[in-house]
Amino acid sequence: EKKHKVTIVGSGNWGSTIAKIIAENTRVNKDLFEEEVQMWVYEEDVTIPKTSPYYDESIGDAPQKLTNIINKHHENVKYLPGIALPSNIVANPSLVDAVQDSTILIFNLPHQFIRNVCDQIRGKILPFARGISCIKGVNVSDDGVSLFSEWIGDGLNIYVGALSGANIASEIAAEKWSETTIAYDPPPMDNSRAPTPRSQSPNLTMTVTEPSDMAHRDARGRKSKTKLTPVPAEYPPLDHDCFRTLFHRPYFHVQLVSDVAGVSLGGALKNIVALAAGFVDGRGWGDNAKAAVMRIGLMEMVKFGKEFFGETVHTATFTESSAGVADLITSCSGGRNFRCAKKAVEKGISVDEVEKQDLNGQKLQGTSTAFEVNSFLKARGLEKDYPLLTAVNAILLGKASVDDIPRLVSETEKTQ
Ligand code: NAD
Ligand code: 13P
Repeated sequence: EKKHKVTIVGSGNWGSTIAKIIAENTRVNKDLFEEEVQMWVYEEDVTIPKTSPYYDESIGDAPQKLTNIINKHHENVKYLPGIALPSNIVANPSLVDAVQDSTILIFNLPHQFIRNVCDQIRGKILPFARGISCIKGVNVSDDGVSLFSEWIGDGLNIYVGALSGANIASEIAAEKWSETTIAYDPPPMDNSRAPTPRSQSPNLTMTVTEPSDMAHRDARGRKSKTKLTPVPAEYPPLDHDCFRTLFHRPYFHVQLVSDVAGVSLGGALKNIVALAAGFVDGRGWGDNAKAAVMRIGLMEMVKFGKEFFGETVHTATFTESSAGVADLITSCSGGRNFRCAKKAVEKGISVDEVEKQDLNGQKLQGTSTAFEVNSFLKARGLEKDYPLLTAVNAILLGKASVDDIPRLVSETEKTQ
């Protein structure tokens, strides 16, 4: 039997953490996976500071290629400093080379860069590859809103599922326990090779319906346009068990579901709510205000899912899974969107400025998602139906202030 080759497309804070998890698992599952894991790195020059254990007198302050540093020292000193990466991760500056011959592609980079990445690899990947998107964001275009998993899948002509959860990368990189949710609902042609146990989570009411016919359905219940190539029989099946083996660690517990829309929307929309939580916390309003923002935000997330992806989305994905309420809670407690929004209010500067000053190249997803979701809602005259999502965008644009939030989200305001 052949083995699966895995490539991580992206190497930021979360990309490097997921690469660590996967490389630990390919090492101990050599019957299923090639041990070596490719990690595509957006190449840049990095200066190693004198305080670093990797500072080399003979090189001094001269900038070095990030890929060389990762391959030599097994640490992503810029985006995941202080964490030892398994030596079977190969940092590769060539995107096309990194994805070549890979059967499993993990997309893990800030959503603003995915378009360019897909353009570069279209037609250069195995036709029967399968993917998982770890991206937290939604794709908004003139046609409306779509999930990145489906957008990538349609663009590359492969099936792509989604991973999302209460997953602050630095905690997981330090091997502190967390849970995650993977939504993977491949077309029946994949299932027919090896039946996938489709309900692994007896405690959750949300899990999984069997596909009602042999045509693959997208997250809106439409027949998918993508013409998929089956995974050849000499490979181990790319099913729920395979992805559990690839991602599950003692410190990273995986739940598999089929609700790709719910998992993807949870990860995208909670970033907007986390900004709101940061705004009210920065204003000094305390925990009650933050809880109110989280409650209203969760309701708007459910409403958004039901209104635009109602054919497939499960409310329980938002209210019961790690990708829903748990991610909302962790993000509103210690996520980057929350922290930057809080500091912006405290300092009286913009969230974009805090991002530039404090994140050393890491990217917020909430600010652009707030804008993108707002343009989608505005085009449909629906801003008033999503008052918190709308208020966050207005605050970011300087058209409203944090003090306006209670009025903008109040029930009486909505009914007037
Ligand atoms: P990050 O915030 O660390 O972003 C920096 C990455 O972007 C670096 O790898 C950098 O090389 C890359 N980059 C910069 N310019 C680029 C360009 N022009 N083209 C391509 N890449 C470029 O990224 P991250 O934390 O790995 O986030 C990736 C995704 O994972 C996001 O959607 C995020 O919401 C999600 N996520 C993040 C966390 C977390 O705690 N960091 C947790 C869960 C999910
Ligand atoms: P931030 O991007 O706001 O840090 O959120 C990280 C995250 O998605 C935690 O699950």
